[in-house]
Amino acid sequence: MKKHIAVLPGDGIGPEIIAQAVRVLDAVAERFGHEFEYEYASIGACAIDECGEPYPEATHDVCMNADAILFGAIGDPKYDRDPSAKVRPEQGLLKMRKTLGLYANIRPVKPYDSLLSASPLKNELVAGSDFVVVRELTGGIYFGEPRGRNEAGDKAFDSCVYSKAEIESVAHVAFGYARRRRGKVTLVDKANVLATSRLWRETVTAIHKAEYPDIALDFMYVDNAAMKMVSNPRDFDVILTENMFGDILSDVSGVINGSIGLLPSASFGDSRALFEPIHGSYPQAAGKDIANPIATILSAAMMLEDSFGLSQEAAVISEACADAIAKGIITEDIRPSSPYGTKTVGSYIAEYILQG
Ligand code: IPM
Ligand code: MN
Repeated sequence: MKKHIAVLPGDGIGPEIIAQAVRVLDAVAERFGHEFEYEYASIGACAIDECGEPYPEATHDVCMNADAILFGAIGDPKYDRDPSAKVRPEQGLLKMRKTLGLYANIRPVKPYDSLLSASPLKNELVAGSDFVVVRELTGGIYFGEPRGRNEAGDKAFDSCVYSKAEIESVAHVAFGYARRRRGKVTLVDKANVLATSRLWRETVTAIHKAEYPDIALDFMYVDNAAMKMVSNPRDFDVILTENMFGDILSDVSGVINGSIGLLPSASFGDSRALFEPIHGSYPQAAGKDIANPIATILSAAMMLEDSFGLSQEAAVISEACADAIAKGIITEDIRPSSPYGTKTVGSYIAEYILQG
């Protein structure tokens, strides 16, 4: 199979973890006789430095011409220290998600048995949890208008806006996942306070009744869901939620796995797909060869399976990652005393694949 992949390393540890994912993809190509062609493009702080734009037109063209997009991370502390900055790296990521129409973000969580002790939570509580967060990605408070400041500059506002159509699109994705899993969707919202959440409940309930009566649907307020996620994570199968709640809850889910550095994600629209780790650019670790490449490598596996239909190849990548973890070839986020770095973990996984 021949595929053209847009590769967007981004900022911070992005380039290092992406390099390992590409190495693993090359190993898959060699072992299974595929041809993966990569086209690199810039996004985020490095794109602002190059051309003043966090998501340049040229990068958009690369994404539009690709069969799938692999993305690293975005963000640079020099912008965090300057709240008045007019252009921020994160705007690049948001613009990319919006212009590519990537409305559904899938964040699967399933801890490794060999890593249960890495979670700060009690092992018996975490063992056996297996759920996926389906996060709406192109609406809500991230994009709603109006937003900004009043004229005096002493008041700021963001708007949370959702249309029925936006909720329907992502709800279908969540029910689809539930059908292939354990048949349960939990809609997480704040319907006791927010009008948008009440529209979510109404819309999701109607779709459920009309098209997915075989799926169990329940509702949970987001504050309660955050508590349940760390006290009873096995209760969840598919969590369907809006953009901001999904952002927060998916970081919480990193605690269950032992490290956020292990969690991949996929973002889908009607015609495009992007794959990225859920963690950020971790600037303090950039260039130190300590970042965990596994979340990005597993994102590449999701790309093979979900965009190219290469399930066997994806399974081999997952198996290779599980083997690295079981043998202790892991970075210091999981075991602080580990002598292994980003490159060693990447080579171990690539070698495992090549050895067949
Ligand atoms: C994520 C990130 C982004 C988000 C940031 C970098 C804008 O935290 O993908 O979860 O909030 O969506
Ligand atoms: Mn986030």
